[in-house]
Amino acid sequence: MKVLVIGGGNMGLTYSQGMAKSSLLNRKKLMIYDTSTEKQESLKDDGLFDVYDDLERCLPDADIVFIAVKPYHCDELFPKMKPMLNYQQIFVSLMAGVTIGKIQEDLGVKKVVRTMPNLPAKVGLGVTSYTESEEVTRVELLMVRNLLDTTGESIRVKNENFINASTGISGSGPAYVFYFMQSMLAAAKKMGFSDNDSKVLVSMTFEGAVKLFNESDITPLKWMDRVASKGGTTRAALDSMKDNNVEKLIEEAAYAAFDRAVELGEE
Ligand SMILES: NC(=O)c1ccc[n+]([C@@H]2O[C@H](COP(=O)([O-])OP(=O)(O)OC[C@H]3O[C@@H](n4cnc5c(N)ncnc54)[C@H](OP(=O)(O)O)[C@@H]3O)[C@@H](O)[C@H]2O)c1
Repeated sequence: MKVLVIGGGNMGLTYSQGMAKSSLLNRKKLMIYDTSTEKQESLKDDGLFDVYDDLERCLPDADIVFIAVKPYHCDELFPKMKPMLNYQQIFVSLMAGVTIGKIQEDLGVKKVVRTMPNLPAKVGLGVTSYTESEEVTRVELLMVRNLLDTTGESIRVKNENFINASTGISGSGPAYVFYFMQSMLAAAKKMGFSDNDSKVLVSMTFEGAVKLFNESDITPLKWMDRVASKGGTTRAALDSMKDNNVEKLIEEAAYAAFDRAVELGEE
């Protein structure tokens, strides 16, 4: 199985590195094509993959093609790709908002997997949601899933609406966590902690809470009950969040991202 990644930027490089470092592919089986000369040089320096500046020399050889360019690059890229494709190739799109139907139509292909990656893929803790066109077989989907899993975990969703929905949860989600962290850092500094102490207090609190959650089968709600005793400090904080309707605000933010993902798909 030969894999080609088109676009060696943030996401293309992240997935390429995940696949290259896994036992699934060796160097000769992983190709990257990028139009930027500067990018090609730095990809070559990585020494993990075969780097191409000419689509004709790599695209016809690929069994699975990851498309990791910006959505607006498609207008230029797809017409170049179209004459070199064959009906057995599988296309895995990392592009936000580009539908399976558009990829099938513009490339004249059938087998398409659409994904929604997220940023922690950079450190092997990403979550990729994905869904596929009906022409992708179970075995092919398993191969794609194994490749996606090299950057963390993946979740198969029923249809493209859930790809847009996962944009609102996991795709844009890391920024919500950073927002929360930033607010807690600001509060810590206002209370008089140094920059370094604030960072340790906040980052360990997040890391510890996530580990506790992952290593138990207790819901966040139950964890909140456990730490918040009546009349205590944590209860005072949670009551303040409840009074300010923070839960509703977070839900609205997630839906704003979901709605925007739908809009982008329609543009
Ligand atoms: N970054 C994220 O957190 C994230 C999250 C979810 C989804 N995504 C999706 O991932 C995709 C890639 O995003 P990114 O942040 O990785 O973009 P990026 O860093 O800009 O990488 C895209 C790369 O593709 C190159 N390129 C442009 N046109 C090309 C062409 N015709 N053929 C081959 N290569 C070409 C670009 O070169 P130039 O720099 O010279 O243009 C650049 O090196 C996007 O569609 C985005 O929606 C990203």
